[in-house]
Amino acid sequence: MKLNNIEDFIREIQMATLEHQSDKAAFIEQFRIKFLGKKGIISDLFEQFKTVPNEEKKEMGQALNRLKTAAQAKIEEFKASIEQLQQQSQTDDLTLPTDYSPVGSRHVLSVVMNEIIDIFSRIGFTVAESVEIEDDWHLFSALNFPPDHPARDMQDTFFVEKEEGRQEVALRTHTSSVQVRVMENNKPPIRIIAPGRVFRNEAISARAHCIFHQVEALYVDKKVTFADLKQTLLYFAKEMFGEQTQIRLRPSYFPFTEPSAEMDISCNICGGKGCNICKGTGWLEILGCGMVDPNVLEACGIDSKEYSGFALGMGVERMAMLKYQIRDLRLYFENDLRFLRQFDALV
Ligand code: DAH
Repeated sequence: MKLNNIEDFIREIQMATLEHQSDKAAFIEQFRIKFLGKKGIISDLFEQFKTVPNEEKKEMGQALNRLKTAAQAKIEEFKASIEQLQQQSQTDDLTLPTDYSPVGSRHVLSVVMNEIIDIFSRIGFTVAESVEIEDDWHLFSALNFPPDHPARDMQDTFFVEKEEGRQEVALRTHTSSVQVRVMENNKPPIRIIAPGRVFRNEAISARAHCIFHQVEALYVDKKVTFADLKQTLLYFAKEMFGEQTQIRLRPSYFPFTEPSAEMDISCNICGGKGCNICKGTGWLEILGCGMVDPNVLEACGIDSKEYSGFALGMGVERMAMLKYQIRDLRLYFENDLRFLRQFDALV
């Protein structure tokens, strides 16, 4: 028996609250059994007390008595507050405070994902969803990935165990696979947005996780140009991060777009002056984009001489990080209510 344990129990008792309990009477009974029941913690500790060396008996005994008194006092306190609530509910005074019933709220990632969907749906994009376990064709080949691209490597991608005579499949590494599925099954004009979960074989840290979320957008029609892409990006950036937001495009490379670009927005924390969030540059990297490579259109059965398109893809975790200054990716998945409750007010 350790003094520390007794102090921990006392603290636990003092912090116990009825606030979030839907069945308060049952909670009190459980609490009583746990601490004061015949086989409860306190009677167990008194049993162990018999073997405590004489020189420790005094201090230990006092701590035990404090523990017992704390448990008894807490139960009295609980009972009194239940009685008070019952009296309140028997009167007709509707202005009295009611019993507290906790209300759930959306996860911050769902909030941000819904916001992105909402912004694109206002300009005619509809949501497309698809499978999370994908084959090589939809993940890589149709998207113009060369055969030796590192994404096809076990180190970067979770492959699902191959069954005899079956095609190799993997957890999707990006939502670009949804582009392929939509283009294969629909004729242009196509204007879709694909939100969803993606998986990568990464070590988990503050900046990387093996599971995260992306939103992909695809627009294919006659005469779609880079100007359409740029205007869509500017609209999105302003709606998402505020009217004052500016964008810039940097040339980049993706197998499935040509030309490709990465979009930065002016830093929404310092307004572009330079701070530690934007590492002094005044710009924040937001998403990848480009004109759909004609090879991709052809692979999906769309005539690249008649049609052109643009695509873009972004990480939802990153959007939420920048919008709400969240510093550690792991927080999204730990289900710590102290973190999640900070976003209660968002719809
Ligand atoms: N699929 C890319 C990734 O996972 C993101 C991306 C970049 C999507 C450019 C696009 C795009 O549609 O045009 O990193």
